[in-house]
Amino acid sequence: MAEWVKSGWRNKPRIQMPEYTDEDALKAVEAQLASYPPLVFAGEARRLKEKLGAASRGEAFLLQGGDCAESFEQFSADAIRDTFKVMLQMAMVLTYGAKVPVVKVGRMAGQFAKPRSAPTEVVDGVELPSYRGDIINELAFTADARIPDPKKMLQAYTQAAATLNLLRAFSTGGYADVHQVHAWTLGFTEGEKAAKYRDMANRISNALDFMNAAGVNSSTAHALRTVDFYTSHEGLLLEYEEALTRLDSTSGNWLAGSGHMIWIGDRTRQPDGAHVEFCSGVQNPIGLKCGPTTTAEDLKVLMAKLNPENEAGRLTLIARFGAGSVGEHLPRLIKTVQEEGANVLWTCDPMHGNTIKSSSGFKTRPFDSVLREVQEFFSVHKAEGTVPGGVHFEMTGQDVTECTGGVRAVTDEDLSSRYHTACDPRLNASQSLELAFLVAEELSSLRDERKKEAV
Ligand code: PEP
Ligand code: CO
Repeated sequence: MAEWVKSGWRNKPRIQMPEYTDEDALKAVEAQLASYPPLVFAGEARRLKEKLGAASRGEAFLLQGGDCAESFEQFSADAIRDTFKVMLQMAMVLTYGAKVPVVKVGRMAGQFAKPRSAPTEVVDGVELPSYRGDIINELAFTADARIPDPKKMLQAYTQAAATLNLLRAFSTGGYADVHQVHAWTLGFTEGEKAAKYRDMANRISNALDFMNAAGVNSSTAHALRTVDFYTSHEGLLLEYEEALTRLDSTSGNWLAGSGHMIWIGDRTRQPDGAHVEFCSGVQNPIGLKCGPTTTAEDLKVLMAKLNPENEAGRLTLIARFGAGSVGEHLPRLIKTVQEEGANVLWTCDPMHGNTIKSSSGFKTRPFDSVLREVQEFFSVHKAEGTVPGGVHFEMTGQDVTECTGGVRAVTDEDLSSRYHTACDPRLNASQSLELAFLVAEELSSLRDERKKEAV
């Protein structure tokens, strides 16, 4: 087999990528990015891979979450802090339910490029190219705004670097202190409808009090004061990815320096396509979205290409079938994985198969469908005796109204009040935390069941 080169994707069929009109401007941007420092270090990606390997064996659990699309306009320290904080709160609840460490990975610091279901968009009889994320063009509905501009890659790099810097500061600088995080968890459970979550929150609180009394607290235990937080995004815009790809001198392997983990979307997973070619050669943990159209044949080829050494933690299969469809598709793909003896981490994205148009005209996702897909994911793994190793959410720490339902119910009519997403609807802080409680219940009942089987 020919040696992998970082530009090899250029000889493969590519889809969902912009046609830049100014070739010279594109080349200049690529050269500039290639001269900048990478955003992540290879040792970090390897550490994440080990943790994902543990999750694939049920010894850890992956929580991956963040915006559908990061936006230049909504870039702020508060937004980063709030999403980070909700993820830590969710992680604490999940740790309690699963009794294993939770691996935290943000859809952050690079999640800018979007695949679209149609190349153009029509509004009031006017047809324009689709918006493809702030790293490519602009959301405004004008012909100018929709022209892909390579310079946007530089702004995306700068925003990703600043975001990652703040995340690193929060992770180790005291903000992630377990007691800070917990105060807010209790706030969430105060409402009338949240009574069912109060019991678990109280038990978490008691456990922390006990540890404190036993002398285990944030001044004595480093682990209660700092967290490991990783970044991820869809590796869609390959000019950007290639420019940030570097040779890791310690291992002699290539690293996508744009983020710790990158994934391949449901629309760009053609086994002979450009995106699979690129991801096959970098050592980062790779995610692969699996939707209803994923065939056993394709999955076999993809697993062989993306994880030829069958390394644990290298490949995460992100199931996104839609509530009501998991039972039809997940068992057949689990069977394929087993037939191949492949090492994979199975996680559930209950967002992308559950998008609907609300009566008020907004693109939304009902909380109940999101929850139902997660429950179906768990029940299939229960039946198959396999490991449900993580969840993947589109969420934000802001109090938005984009998905309907939840204990602090968002209705169809509410959607217009705080609908801010640049692309798909996200769970708000309260809905995210509620989902974490419900996933924790699934995890703890699975644990009980497996324990019983073991005796
Ligand atoms: C996404 O994760 O934002 C996305 C576009 O997902 P999918 O490729 O699964 O549709
Ligand atoms: Co999305």
